[in-house]
Amino acid sequence: MWKGRHNGPIHDRFSTAIGSAKPRQVREKHEQFHCRVVSAPDASVYVVGVAHGETRNAFTAAWVMQVSFDPLLLALSINPQHSSYGLLKQSGAFSVNVLKKSQTELAAHFGQPARADKLAATEWTPGRAGSPLLRDALAWFECEVVGEHPAGDHILVLGKVIGGRLLDSEAEPMTYRETGAMDGASALFPEGFGDA
Ligand SMILES: Cc1cc2nc3c(=O)[nH]c(=O)nc-3n(C[C@H](O)[C@H](O)[C@H](O)COP(=O)(O)O)c2cc1C
Repeated sequence: MWKGRHNGPIHDRFSTAIGSAKPRQVREKHEQFHCRVVSAPDASVYVVGVAHGETRNAFTAAWVMQVSFDPLLLALSINPQHSSYGLLKQSGAFSVNVLKKSQTELAAHFGQPARADKLAATEWTPGRAGSPLLRDALAWFECEVVGEHPAGDHILVLGKVIGGRLLDSEAEPMTYRETGAMDGASALFPEGFGDA
């Protein structure tokens, strides 16, 4: 559902645009619900990098969280229709780049489907499994895939953290709330969602 960077929802986070037929008031109510409630917890925003051989890609993600201390595990919820998923499956690895507050251009850029090389205009280095590590990130982690679990229209990927680096100790992480309606998520709430 790509509509251009500043013209509303920009991507195909979910496979269908079932929300696009909703009446305007319902759409507005769901957008408000999304911005004020669903994105209220201070979830951060990340660029997840993947690579297999010479092919690399990266996409914006908010559904990333720590789920274990020992071993240190992160869970990533990924739409299997993303082109990044094939690379993640083939390599068994991914990187998680933590975005800084106000890096919304980067979040929007990597939130687009990969029609061209999304990494071309960004400085990055390959991690030990080749996954892109962004030079301008607040921090990054390198992960090895240790498990997968289906989660509705997404897949929960468990990644064991095998490396990490803090690049900017002064910066604040970007919050999901800052991205507003960038991912078009509110368009996918069912009709009665948010009613008393
Ligand atoms: C703020 C924001 C958060 C997102 N969070 C996720 C996420 O957690 N999981 C996911 O699969 N896609 C997420 N997306 C959607 C992907 O970034 C987007 O669909 C992208 O086009 C996929 O790229 P690819 O097809 O090049 O792999 C998010 C997008 C934005 C803008």
